[in-house]
Amino acid sequence: MKIVVLNGPNLNMLGIREKNIYGSETYEDLVKLIEMTAEENAIEVEVYQSNHEGALVDRIQQAYFDGTKGIVINPAAYTHTSVAILDALKAVNLPTVEVHLSDVSQREDFRQISYAGKACVKTIMGKGFLGYKEAMLFLFEKFNGKGE
Ligand code: DQA
Repeated sequence: MKIVVLNGPNLNMLGIREKNIYGSETYEDLVKLIEMTAEENAIEVEVYQSNHEGALVDRIQQAYFDGTKGIVINPAAYTHTSVAILDALKAVNLPTVEVHLSDVSQREDFRQISYAGKACVKTIMGKGFLGYKEAMLFLFEKFNGKGE
């Protein structure tokens, strides 16, 4: 089973940016956790990060053509602004889980809207890196007959 894990702007700065909110582990640490989770569950995973909205749209579209079965996405700031990412997720129509490291529901007003989330089967927030693991296992179970 192939999935893609997509990360939006500034997530490459994990370990440097706002450590009080996002912690001190780095983006490389996150990639390691994702790859380890994939290996343990025989999931084929591709991890992609971009600071550019259009690049994320391109990568979502690619998922339609390359046999990807599900998407895990943390659109970061584009969560709250990007109709283009929402439309791309709707276009490919693959089961998608939205992940946020922080609990955005407890943060500023401008973070209370999630466009991407409108195309997602599940949202996980406030669980740090473990949210990605939970999202991957959710998709894994869905495709192994134990999920919804
Ligand atoms: C984030 C929350 C967003 O509001 C923010 O812009 C981010 C990261 C999170 O993972 O908690 O960059 O998506």
